[in-house]
Amino acid sequence: MKSFFNLLKTTISKISHWGAKNVINFIYFELIYFFRFNSRTLFGIQNNELDYEIKDDEEFIEYIPTPFFLINKSAKKINLNLTESCLVDFGSGAGRALEFFINKEVKFCKGIERSSKLTELARLNLSKYDNVELFHMDAENYKIDNKDNIFFLYDPFGIETIKKVIKNINYSVKISPREINIIYVSPRYNEIFKSAFKVIYEDVNKFNLGVVVFSN
Ligand SMILES: C[S@@+](CC[C@H](N)C(=O)[O-])C[C@H]1O[C@@H](n2cnc3c(N)ncnc32)[C@H](O)[C@@H]1O
Repeated sequence: MKSFFNLLKTTISKISHWGAKNVINFIYFELIYFFRFNSRTLFGIQNNELDYEIKDDEEFIEYIPTPFFLINKSAKKINLNLTESCLVDFGSGAGRALEFFINKEVKFCKGIERSSKLTELARLNLSKYDNVELFHMDAENYKIDNKDNIFFLYDPFGIETIKKVIKNINYSVKISPREINIIYVSPRYNEIFKSAFKVIYEDVNKFNLGVVVFSN
């Protein structure tokens, strides 16, 4: 009940900034995928209720599922073929984005999540699929594999972790040159990504709602 109340609070405060078209899209896609997936991803957990300590540079971390309409939009804007790709969700929560991309026939996907409770819930939600692996760990310590080529982030963590993840992606691409895409939803640290990667799509409003897709 509390987690649903958290979600409601965050959603109401956000959608008051979204505009009518986005609100209609939000409701439409939530209903479609609620019935299609029947998974437990629609709830919210705030800072003080997460089962790990937030880092010094992070004033705000929460689990809120990525709105389906934004995941759907981002999937249309990447320039790599999903069926040949391995997608990594940094801060995968209860597995919502992963389930979406599995159903879009991504070849393989991985979720990196610091909360053990959320990792276990994602395991339950995704137990029917065999092309997904979940890692209960800090995203900054995930060693990027040379097959990982699409990276997904929904405003997951603070600036220092973002910088380390970018460094890890750049290092991996330097060692194993390949084309990559990065999907960044609600891109709080957009400028840092822009200094490291090329924007191939951007639609973000002044309240930080939207999606940016980068390539190298
Ligand atoms: C906004 S939620 C992302 C939701 C998810 N991508 C989805 O598909 O719905 C952000 C998530 O990042 C996780 N997180 C925060 N810091 C992290 C870190 N350093 N490493 C891994 N996960 C982290 C949080 O526990 C939370 O579940």
